[in-house]
Amino acid sequence: MIKILTIIGARPQIIKAAALSRAIKNSFSERIEEKILHTGQHYDSTMSDVFFEEMNIPKPHFNLNIGSGKHGEQTAKMISGIEQILLGEPFDAVVVFGDTNSTLAGAIAASKIHIPIVHIEAGLRSFNMAMPEEINRIVCDQLSTLLFAPTETAVKNLENEGFFSSKSIFKDGNNRQVFHSGDIMYDNSLYFAEIAEQKTDILQRLNLQNQDFVLATIHRDNNTDNPERLTAIIEALIEIAEKTKIVLPLHPRTKKLLPENLSKEIHDKLQYNSNITIIPPASFFEILVLEKYSQLIMTDSGGLQKEAYFFKKPCVILRPETEWVEIVEQQAGIIADADKQMILSAFEKLSQSKPSFPPVFGDGRSAEFTLNKIIEVFG
Ligand code: UD1
Repeated sequence: MIKILTIIGARPQIIKAAALSRAIKNSFSERIEEKILHTGQHYDSTMSDVFFEEMNIPKPHFNLNIGSGKHGEQTAKMISGIEQILLGEPFDAVVVFGDTNSTLAGAIAASKIHIPIVHIEAGLRSFNMAMPEEINRIVCDQLSTLLFAPTETAVKNLENEGFFSSKSIFKDGNNRQVFHSGDIMYDNSLYFAEIAEQKTDILQRLNLQNQDFVLATIHRDNNTDNPERLTAIIEALIEIAEKTKIVLPLHPRTKKLLPENLSKEIHDKLQYNSNITIIPPASFFEILVLEKYSQLIMTDSGGLQKEAYFFKKPCVILRPETEWVEIVEQQAGIIADADKQMILSAFEKLSQSKPSFPPVFGDGRSAEFTLNKIIEVFG
């Protein structure tokens, strides 16, 4: 039996872990035993508990309850907590997802105790070192043994960084293996799309019709924490709301910073806008249904950019760059940064275009692929 410790902490990781746990339960339970560690990075029930309930994820065996904090402080507490767990019980590998501080902490703690790291969603790069996520990804990839890259671009990024070089600078560097696995989030979107529709009445509750609204989300620190950028994005949303309804689920960080970083005038225009519906963070089922029935998505989230693509929706990307370059290459998304005019023109352009959505994120069986490789290597 191979024993793995899956480390999660932030909302998108809980979602990705659901696909892995489901595949273990359905097809690999005789070969793989999984324990789950939640760092507690996300702790609000709307950011954490609701996902466990909806997706039937096993309750975490360990919860570190770390909560929010400065990056160093938050990550350090996580490293220390994860280390204690890893020293208390033998694991064959640690599985981490994506690029959050929980990912980084898992990778650092495991690598110091010489436990192999499996990185799901490896190889993504924005080439913007001002993003905490970029630092987390680069460090985690360097420390990982098995790297599961969701896209061809991610594989190429690793190749460019020497991951395929036979002359590795590390003594045991040749043990590192990179796989093009497809995207584990696609597994979930396919699996849950129909169930979600039966389980949520969000469209009725918000009085929405098919394709008569835009779904928007903002949570990146460089947008929420910067008054100029936040103002530009919100001003663009207010202008777009003259033409169409907008649904805006609010991450707790954004909720806190909107009144602080917007002028009272703009904040009022947003708050009292009859065409903009502000809601608490959506559950996974709710967001899937909102994505599926929206006309277009505007977001600074990596996950939503991909889900927009899965549901064949055009996407205005509220960032200066994206790791998911395939979406832009297919002209299914436009990078508009936090520039009001660019956002407005991207909205107009994408509202009129009919992009195609070839399958660049795999076949929806990424979890099985990953688990088979884990068995091959550690079995
Ligand atoms: C984290 C990830 C980001 C990911 C996002 C998904 C890092 C560096 N960033 O960003 O890559 O896209 O999760 O949501 O790990 N807060 C609450 N309740 C919660 C969680 C957060 O109130 O349950 C508030 C706190 O004020 C906190 C702030 O949100 O200070 C930021 O939370 P944090 O987990 O540090 O980062 P995210 O912005 O959520």
